[in-house]
Amino acid sequence: EKGGYKHFMAKEIAEQPVVLGDALRHYLKADHINLPEELDFSNIERLTLVACGTAFYACSVAKYWFESLAGLPCEIDVASEFRYREPPLPKNSFALFVSQSGETADTLAALRYCKGKVAHTVAVVNVPTSSIAREADLALPILAGIEVGVASTKAFSCQLLALAVMALKAGRDRGHLSAAQAAAHMDTLRALPGLMNAALATSDEIARLAAQLAEAQDILFLGRGAMYPLALEGALKLKEISYIHAEGYASGELKHGPIALIDRTVPVIVMAPHDRLFDKTVSNMQEVMARHGKVLLVTDAKGATTAAEGTWAHLRMPEVAEPFAPILYALPAQLLAYHTAIAKGTDVDQPRNLAKSVTVE
Ligand code: M6R
Repeated sequence: EKGGYKHFMAKEIAEQPVVLGDALRHYLKADHINLPEELDFSNIERLTLVACGTAFYACSVAKYWFESLAGLPCEIDVASEFRYREPPLPKNSFALFVSQSGETADTLAALRYCKGKVAHTVAVVNVPTSSIAREADLALPILAGIEVGVASTKAFSCQLLALAVMALKAGRDRGHLSAAQAAAHMDTLRALPGLMNAALATSDEIARLAAQLAEAQDILFLGRGAMYPLALEGALKLKEISYIHAEGYASGELKHGPIALIDRTVPVIVMAPHDRLFDKTVSNMQEVMARHGKVLLVTDAKGATTAAEGTWAHLRMPEVAEPFAPILYALPAQLLAYHTAIAKGTDVDQPRNLAKSVTVE
């Protein structure tokens, strides 16, 4: 059942080009975005996205997309906070609940809170028969296939894809994207499975780096723009399976506190495709290097040529057009966590104290 892999997690990481391809074929039919008619974003004044853990980080990435591609104001929150803070919700808004299992207690309670208060509640789930899918007005499948590893991997990239497609529809509905712009973004999404295969090919190199990462007490992840929530996801993945303390920060926040942690024992993983924010991230990275932090730069060929000098190591991802790099860079983040955990000898599929689905609050 592990298909020749040692762990479900390894299998599920490796499956991503295939499952993402399936999801792409489902959601993009030539130039048409295959989403329900009712999901009409034209006159919506706000989108609320609620989830827990990795699914929350998918929402956090999607906020950048809905805002930049559709000009749609977004609010995001973790379900355990959202459900108790009595948030006012405009009637003329959609509320989106993202959950792999569709059974997470806090997310389900947040959905129940929103019902009747917003125009539509929408579930983005992997398990179509789940409670969250049944109770929402609309349920959209992420089509990742069964995910067994406690650490969510392929569900994350498929959640991102479903959200990206929704953001494109919102962009079209609201007249924020031209047909040509939307088509170009669809081409970027369609290229992802191929690029993911190239990203997976860095696995052995990552395994070698992981032998050293496994010695660390603390590891920081940095990112800017939509790569910031990906830094948070990279840190979560690493701590849950390797038990190494890890934190993700927005690169620009570094000098507001966390830089005090940096010395030669602290690896800092910088997730930075060569995009319009690259130079700013690099200057934050140089501040880390000046304090002898051990930088691992995850970038593309252009980024490596400009900025890899003086880093401890760098990983080269294929080039991907903005703003969908987080879908691709999720893979090295997952592989870093996986190989570091393997180097430490932890149980990657069943990490201590964790359950696949959190059905009590
Ligand atoms: O089933 P859900 O997507 O609602 O689960 C949410 C979180 O419990 C889940 O993503 C958790 O954070 C994972 N273990 C992360 O790898």
